[in-house]
Amino acid sequence: MIVCVCNNISDREIRQAVDLGISSMPELHRELGVGTCCGKCVSYARDVLNEHLDSK
Ligand code: FES
Repeated sequence: MIVCVCNNISDREIRQAVDLGISSMPELHRELGVGTCCGKCVSYARDVLNEHLDSK
């Protein structure tokens, strides 16, 4: 499912980024561009990030 429509980033890509070592929203912004346009995805992207970090 697409999380960030502006940058076409899916929840799967966010999980993959976490698997590669990303552990914070600033890193997600920098590496994938999540939330860098309209910002509407930030809350959900944070949930996906935190859930995947917690599952590790
Ligand atoms: Fe992610 Fe707009 S949906 S910045």
